Amino acid sequence: MVGNIIVGQSGGPTAVINSSLVGVFQTAKDRGAVKAYGMLHGIQGLLEGKYIDLEDHIKSDLDIELLKRTPSAYLGSCRYKLPEIGENDEVYNRIFETLYRLGIKGFFYIGGNDSMDTIRKLSDYGEMIGANIAFMGVPKTIDNDLAVTDHTPGFGSAAKYIGSTVKEVIRDGRVFDANMVTIIEIMGRNAGWLTGASALARGEDCDGPDMIYLPEIPMDVGDFLQRIGELQKNKKAIVVAVSEGMKLADGRYVCELTDTVAFVDAFGHRSLTGTARYLADQVARRYGCKTRAIEFNTLQRCSAHMASRVDITEAFQVGGAAVKAAFEGETAKMVVLKRLSQDPYQCATETYDIHEIANVEKTVPPEWIDEDNKYVTPEFLNYVRPLIQAELSPIMVSGLPRHLYYDLK
Ligand code: F6P
Repeated sequence: MVGNIIVGQSGGPTAVINSSLVGVFQTAKDRGAVKAYGMLHGIQGLLEGKYIDLEDHIKSDLDIELLKRTPSAYLGSCRYKLPEIGENDEVYNRIFETLYRLGIKGFFYIGGNDSMDTIRKLSDYGEMIGANIAFMGVPKTIDNDLAVTDHTPGFGSAAKYIGSTVKEVIRDGRVFDANMVTIIEIMGRNAGWLTGASALARGEDCDGPDMIYLPEIPMDVGDFLQRIGELQKNKKAIVVAVSEGMKLADGRYVCELTDTVAFVDAFGHRSLTGTARYLADQVARRYGCKTRAIEFNTLQRCSAHMASRVDITEAFQVGGAAVKAAFEGETAKMVVLKRLSQDPYQCATETYDIHEIANVEKTVPPEWIDEDNKYVTPEFLNYVRPLIQAELSPIMVSGLPRHLYYDLK
């Protein structure tokens, strides 16, 4: 493939999404791409003609190393839903005019479910008009809910942060000789991968959370309170991990029981927040003990100082693999990770039809959820553990991590 490439980042950022950006950039240059452009704020920015020449910004090996360790999306992100093909040709005309003008032969989009929907639509449209541009998805999401791939880059680092921080919170909760219930709220929407990762805290030096509530199983708030009462008979400091996406049996999110004003994005996703606060208040009302509601919130996806080296490396690899596939003539695919062996852990990259991936949500399989004990099984932990291994220390300047950033304003 001779020509130029363009890359964008989309959806919620992760601690390692910039490693994928570097993987795309470096591999494209190594394979002879003339220009490597970055769209600013994903497809939404491209529609407004916003892009940069990446070579003006990533100028040295040090820049590459800094970017691998910089959280958030260097190019900015968006949650923009493309119209269905046939609904609004004007949008597609604008995008393809820009791609033609820039001489683009390879289009790479680093993102999760919604972003793969963008790749699906663009590749279908490109094929329809005979555009001769390769459209490739590069997987990314802390939620780990993309289909087909063994796991998604971003998940391992968030899981490492969650396991470590839950452990530290459990330590802290033990200091007073008084009843205390801490509820920790973890991201992941409708998939419990990240919440389940709180069980990583359990080990020789820590009991781990006392209960873990995954969104795959509807929540009965009355039963939850009952269980807290039971636990308190033998233990003073109780720690419970809950997913931000906990739902009641009637399908409403638990956080809808609060009076938080919820933002709804273009894909119809409600901003999920307040589950821990709601449950902690219920506990305080019923048992009169001290409670804390801790929302890990954006911390779990931007804590690059706690990133997993395996995750950073794989994020880079999936970016490179997408470019390699495009240069070899593939299109309408997403790169997937395939686990070859567990011990020693080995993963390879492959590519897979985007139509089988876009808009499919992969949740935790029922056999990995211990519903009665409100926990995940050892198989779940065996799956996650290799993904959180090793570290890549930040480059520290004046005691703090140094980042490479583009001033997005
Ligand atoms: O999709 C990734 C994710 O981090 C979800 O876990 C979370 O629900 C959502 O993004 C939060 O999005 P926002 O950045 O819009 O608050």
